[in-house]
Amino acid sequence: MSALRPFPGDFLWGAATSAYQIEGSPLADGAGPSIWHQFAHTPGHVRGGDTGDVACDHYRRMAEDVALMARLGLRAYRFSVSWSRILPQGRGHVNPAGLGFYERLVDALLERDIVPLLTLYHWDLPAALDMYGGWLNPDSPHWFADYAEVLFRALGDRVRLWITINEPWVVAHCGYLQGVHAPGHRNLYQAPMVSIHLLQSHALAVAAFRACCDGRIGIALNLEPQYPATQHPADVAAAQRREAYVNRQYLDPLLLGRYPPELARLFGEAWPRDADARIATARGSLDFLGINYYTRAVVRAEPRSVPERAAPVPPASAPRTAMGWEIHPQGLADVFAELRHRAPTLPLYITENGAAFDDPPAAHGLVDDGARVRYLGDHLRVARAALAAGSDLRGYFVWSLLDNFEWQHGYSRRFGIVHVDFASQRRTPKHSAWFYRDVIHSHGRALDEAGTRGL
Ligand code: FCB
Repeated sequence: MSALRPFPGDFLWGAATSAYQIEGSPLADGAGPSIWHQFAHTPGHVRGGDTGDVACDHYRRMAEDVALMARLGLRAYRFSVSWSRILPQGRGHVNPAGLGFYERLVDALLERDIVPLLTLYHWDLPAALDMYGGWLNPDSPHWFADYAEVLFRALGDRVRLWITINEPWVVAHCGYLQGVHAPGHRNLYQAPMVSIHLLQSHALAVAAFRACCDGRIGIALNLEPQYPATQHPADVAAAQRREAYVNRQYLDPLLLGRYPPELARLFGEAWPRDADARIATARGSLDFLGINYYTRAVVRAEPRSVPERAAPVPPASAPRTAMGWEIHPQGLADVFAELRHRAPTLPLYITENGAAFDDPPAAHGLVDDGARVRYLGDHLRVARAALAAGSDLRGYFVWSLLDNFEWQHGYSRRFGIVHVDFASQRRTPKHSAWFYRDVIHSHGRALDEAGTRGL
């Protein structure tokens, strides 16, 4: 790829994390338990019985971690707030100590000129609300909007960039249909209800934000382009179905105010007849879109799979990460092209992009994670080309700042640009962290330097 224009001077270069994955101390200072706390503490759910009880101990090492971000030259930091620290019962009584933690975090970031990007919900619903059905409860959008308003009031003067919900598709699919995430349900009829309530929650919170606050608010979607395994019409149709299920289930309501018609066919009687009417308010409810991109899917028809009747089958020879996810930067280019087509003026952020690898051990203060340097470099070059092609891309957040609790995989998957020794809590920036610092410092020119490509 030839040298392109550098990234704009005000491009937001950041790293991302989420509360349950890094904070630890989940019940400290009056916090209530979340569904992830309960899920991880139930045997059989998380590999090796790992929990977020300690995680990266960020709750107690926040100041040190913000100093580290500054050392790495980060201009922005995406984090999530733990709802049950703020409202231990999920609603009603506000816990000032919980709020205080995020106030101190935001102040520490601003002191170092690091722009905060706050995610309101990254999967850790208060367990007290799960007792009432959690996201299945038709009141859940009001619970969420009330919680969001507490944060808008407390931090709206200092935080200008907000994300309502992280990856609603994963919440509904993994949490209520597949059962591999909290709350661990496996119910075809529940996933559509959760989808509707998440979109309603998002739209209500955005309306509340627009009524009270300056700044911009959006949502983060996991976008995974779908390609047919062969040109056989059955596979082509399967890829289209999965595209509707994974990507357009949320994009279409946000952009058009209705669900893709394929969903009613895929879910059959499990799909509520009035679904479109219930999510009509989601249309236009975003000032920007957050894109979480990791991989693509290559799909073949699979009559038995419910609901999408399509199965991802990564090509056997393709390069993969430690998650087994195919490394395919071109998929990100295709996501950008699709969005230029569907929403040409919508501001975009890459709110997550990164990779887990079995890194070599930290030795003499160094971790030589060449595979991650290559992964990030390749995707950043795609981001730069998208800018040149006219996408309104305003920032990039690497997942993740720190090695952390990777949900059902526990601590066995390392996504950090900073290595964490979980026994000592020692942080060691990996080669990728220093590479990223150079990219930031040079506005992307370091991406052209010999060595970053061939590493
Ligand atoms: C995303 C999640 C994030 C992390 C990465 C690897 O789906 O938003 O918390 O687990 O995947």
